[in-house]
Amino acid sequence: MSNLSVDYEIRRFQAAAKDDPAYAESVAWMQAVAFGFHDARRSDERVDKSIELQRTDRRVMTGVYQAGTVACHSLGADVPVATFGTMTKTLNIGFGRLLDARLVTAVTVRTSHRRRGLLRRMMGEDLALAREEGLAMAALTASEASIYGRFGFGVATSEQSVKVDTTARFRLNHTPVGSVEVADPRVLLELAPEVFGRLHRITPGSIGRHEFYRQFASGSVSRDGGEDPKVKVALHYGPGGDVDGYVSYRFAGWSSTPYTMEVVDLVAATGAAYLELWQYLAAIDLVERVTWEEAPVDDPLRWALEDARCVEASAARDMLWLRILDAKQALEARHYPADGRLVLKVADSLGLTGGTFTLDVDGSGAAVTAGGSGAPDLELDVAALSAIYLGGVSPVTLAASGRILEHTPGAAFRAARMFAVERPPHCLTHF
Ligand SMILES: CC(C)(COP(=O)(O)OP(=O)(O)OC[C@H]1O[C@@H](n2cnc3c(N)ncnc32)[C@H](O)[C@@H]1OP(=O)(O)O)[C@@H](O)C(=O)NCCC(=O)NCCS
Repeated sequence: MSNLSVDYEIRRFQAAAKDDPAYAESVAWMQAVAFGFHDARRSDERVDKSIELQRTDRRVMTGVYQAGTVACHSLGADVPVATFGTMTKTLNIGFGRLLDARLVTAVTVRTSHRRRGLLRRMMGEDLALAREEGLAMAALTASEASIYGRFGFGVATSEQSVKVDTTARFRLNHTPVGSVEVADPRVLLELAPEVFGRLHRITPGSIGRHEFYRQFASGSVSRDGGEDPKVKVALHYGPGGDVDGYVSYRFAGWSSTPYTMEVVDLVAATGAAYLELWQYLAAIDLVERVTWEEAPVDDPLRWALEDARCVEASAARDMLWLRILDAKQALEARHYPADGRLVLKVADSLGLTGGTFTLDVDGSGAAVTAGGSGAPDLELDVAALSAIYLGGVSPVTLAASGRILEHTPGAAFRAARMFAVERPPHCLTHF
């Protein structure tokens, strides 16, 4: 990797304002991201909009630039050959606790520069910077499951796609306590962050949302750019009349078979709101199927239905990947529902937080002692520790898979009880 510093230069910057001379650098970066994800070349208007969103989130753009001679007629030296975006949001780590996390996004490496260690270099530098800033956690969502384990990321939440049969078969064992009403989609520009904030505070694994979502749920932007005039919105009102849930959805068209409604975003801050929004979706005339790409794996809907087979679910997919940057800080931040002591020997190939940690939990809280030469109960790498951190996978399963070495019989089950959270972790924020 040493020759990389000769050929490439890494620059980090915040998205510039349109009247700033540095704006062109942000534009080139956005175009490189679009190229990396095989998007159509973005119109000036769309680039402006994307940069505006980046500015609202205070994202940091990292670009890798060719420092030497650039091949003639090829893209200029001002266009990054690799991109890496970051922002900081909160992660719900169970029992209402929120932890700041460095979110990694927009990772691309131009095909003609791939497999030269550029991703490794950007990731290594950025995670070290985040740790220096005092952050204990990093997070990302992955295009491929084979890329990020090597950097210490482990799968902490999963999701699945569902197709729900909403014909007469759909009958829920639930008596509504609130009501649902249709609204102008633009009301979500104001309401979505508030309703999501309520869900975020009660859902382990939830990541605070970036600006895009408010605009997306309200149909103000689509994943392809411009507005989405197909988006429709219904709000759920709790027994006290407050809006405690919404669903944003769009019709898949008269050529869909059966006629299908697609959920764009479904956010419910209470169990009743969730079921009642489904009752609403199922009641939409002319439609026989509702699809949702981001459904929880542990879905209460299935258990509320008289005929659970109305829900046809895909296999579970990895969703949120976590990477503990500072094990002592991350372990002390958690609330543990069971008392106990665990000595964890953690390996970290990036050298950020390896070592032995003794976690002591009693009624008065959790204390973590780093170092010490005590024999470990469990030996694992930081990716496995990150995966069990929110109870999304049982340490017993990871021990059976060889990802955790259990030196003290029963320690994996003890860890399972200690790391449990109050409800199954789920993340509704893609970034
Ligand atoms: C994925 C991507 C960013 C990798 O960039 P890169 O600069 O080629 O990666 P590096 O050269 O730094 O490789 C680092 C390591 O990851 C491995 N690796 C990289 N991409 C991989 C992939 N898709 N699957 C499996 N391993 C991969 C490399 O073999 C290397 O392994 P090693 O360190 O054990 O030798 C790049 O291929 C890309 O832009 N893909 C398209 C966009 C994308 O999928 N982005 C990710 C969004 S979440």
